[in-house]
Amino acid sequence: MSYQIAIDGPAGAGKSTIAKKLAKAKQFIYVDTGAMYRAMAYYLLQNHVDPRDGEAVGEKSQSADITIQYEKGEQVVVLNGENVNAFLRTEEVGNMASITSQNPRVRERLTVLQKELAAKNNVVMDGRDIGTCVLPGADVKIYLTASPAVRAKRRFDELVAKGETCDLQKIEADIIKRDEQDMNREIAPLKQAEDAVLIDSSYMSIDQVVEEIMAVCRKSMTELGS
Ligand code: DC
Repeated sequence: MSYQIAIDGPAGAGKSTIAKKLAKAKQFIYVDTGAMYRAMAYYLLQNHVDPRDGEAVGEKSQSADITIQYEKGEQVVVLNGENVNAFLRTEEVGNMASITSQNPRVRERLTVLQKELAAKNNVVMDGRDIGTCVLPGADVKIYLTASPAVRAKRRFDELVAKGETCDLQKIEADIIKRDEQDMNREIAPLKQAEDAVLIDSSYMSIDQVVEEIMAVCRKSMTELGS
């Protein structure tokens, strides 16, 4: 049986940074499911599909072949044979993904792939619905959050470091809008699983969060053994 750590939470809570570190420490595979939804959104954008047209989104999504490969321990998202990692982290793709991930056919397609990966490997998987839908039997479930203001500031600092000009207020407004979309959609909304451990990272360092999750893992192992 594989060991599964599920981390869910809103955009900008630090899920991917923490999940990557944790996966490295435990020598597990890191599965960034948001990147899969982003690859699908990128494909739909490239094909000029209107995100509000659910039927068109569902139909077109069926011709996106998304797979995950690992190169030097890094997750590479391959869309119809092409490495698309470099195109996924823009605000445009993130906003499109927040809308198109509401589509049931999109979710069905990507959920199957995520379950397969977790059945074959020990994983740290992050997303919105991992503990609730994708891996309801995960060994450890974490719900990682932070205040919208803190998340916006982190994103702002990231963009500034990349040399981009941006507006902090607009970023915060986008974050609040995406939270609303992710939490209020009909299928697989973002919510804390009943058996998930809540961690608010607003005033914690990355290492503190990783250490806290490691402690939760140790506790779950002890309980398993006892
Ligand atoms: O975590 P992220 O910002 O890369 O995710 C991009 C979008 O994909 C986000 O708005 C919600 C969606 N998503 C989802 O619906 N389910 C997941 N398991 C992961 C992401």
